[in-house]
Amino acid sequence: MGVWTLHTYGVTRGSIALKAYYIKDLAEKIGQDVEIYGWVYRKRRHGKLIFVVVRDSSGIVQISIRKGSVPEESFEAAKAADIESSIRVLGVVKEDERATGGVEVACTMLEVVAPSPDFPIQEDTGPEALLDIRHLTLRSTESQKIMKMKMGLVKAAREFFDGEGFYEVFPPILMGVAGEGGGTLFSLDYFGQTAYLSQTAQLHLEAAIFSLENVYSLTPSFRAEKSRTRRHLTEFSHFEAEMAWCDQKENEGIQERLVTHICNALGERYAGDLECFDQDPAYFRDMEPTFERILYDEAVSLIQETRPDFCFGADLGFEEEKVLTEHFEYPFFVQRFPMSIKAFYMKQEGDRAVCADLEAPGGYGEIIGGSQREDDLESLMARIAAEGEDLEKYEWYLDLRRYGSVPHSGFGMGTERLLRWILKLDHIRSACLFPRTPARVYP
Ligand code: 4AD
Ligand code: MG
Repeated sequence: MGVWTLHTYGVTRGSIALKAYYIKDLAEKIGQDVEIYGWVYRKRRHGKLIFVVVRDSSGIVQISIRKGSVPEESFEAAKAADIESSIRVLGVVKEDERATGGVEVACTMLEVVAPSPDFPIQEDTGPEALLDIRHLTLRSTESQKIMKMKMGLVKAAREFFDGEGFYEVFPPILMGVAGEGGGTLFSLDYFGQTAYLSQTAQLHLEAAIFSLENVYSLTPSFRAEKSRTRRHLTEFSHFEAEMAWCDQKENEGIQERLVTHICNALGERYAGDLECFDQDPAYFRDMEPTFERILYDEAVSLIQETRPDFCFGADLGFEEEKVLTEHFEYPFFVQRFPMSIKAFYMKQEGDRAVCADLEAPGGYGEIIGGSQREDDLESLMARIAAEGEDLEKYEWYLDLRRYGSVPHSGFGMGTERLLRWILKLDHIRSACLFPRTPARVYP
């Protein structure tokens, strides 16, 4: 047993230093004394030898605790440690080809920092029960990978916007008006007035382009949608961009470059994790920004091949997107929906909206909604009135058309929708730290 001077955590009570060793780095420390802090992931015992697999945020590693090679208290502590107990281990890193990460740690001391009696997750715990204890299930290696990849996705998106000269802005979440129609608003009492949780930052981003021209934001958006589908959340992370002097053609170009950049980056940086989800990293790494474009009318014809009862003029629901997206290998745009099924702010040409939705293949459905915006004051006022909305509340928005109106466009991308498609997650809620759905606001 070595002489232990290593003690990076809790040396002085009340001052917790960041730990010195992360499991992912142990392969570079063969032969060295290390100190590991983590949680018991698995455990088995063969007489005088106990194997504890410990996990931290960076990976897992097996610790071997041999009776006689460690103080008796350490052996007893290892024997008693339950799954998910937090532990501190001192040991020597040994090369071991068969082990995950190629190393094992021969323990010289083990102590339980805090026990975890009867951890409530069993192999047969069902999906709803797992969500009831989401605060515990997010410790799983699967959730860990998803959360890391979500961060990777967000980082790649920010890189893209930054590289294209966008300014990041921070719009409000408490809103006085509906951005996406009154049907899906969460309202709340705001000192005697009614306010809403933001469905979209778009209207405020539109104001910001008159100052910064090309802007984006990442905010939570809220939709009081009762739809219990595998792709609807009541709260999601919304990337939105708005560009001055930009038409719909250019808008689509930005979207396809954004999605391609994110996919390329994840294919490159998360190849191993993608494989864990049975996804081919090369598909993402080699993706090119040349997405197909079809008109709404062509989409209707394609859908009618399998669903003859689908009518022109209807919106694409889950079933329609499912049959439509089977025709494609990569994301693709559906352009020019009928104005009657699109939002009031979209620019109108004839009976169509100058818009496109970006659809993911394989039945995963819409990942981006975008359009050129109506820049004409009179048309915009007529449409807000037609929605039955109070024009007075939109005065500030209408001012944007009164003072130096410009052609402009923008879009919104659901972070969880995109991640769900990339990882082919069965349900969008797996893409959230704490999913919010009509049936769930706990934990
Ligand atoms: O198509 P949506 O409703 O468009 C807007 O909100 C625009 N104002 C955005 C803009 O142009 N700035 O939403 C945009 C995207 C969808 O394509 C989808 O990816 C995601 O947001 N989204 C949802 N994700 C999860 N759960 C929901 N209930 C979602 N609703 C929309
Ligand atoms: Mg949409």
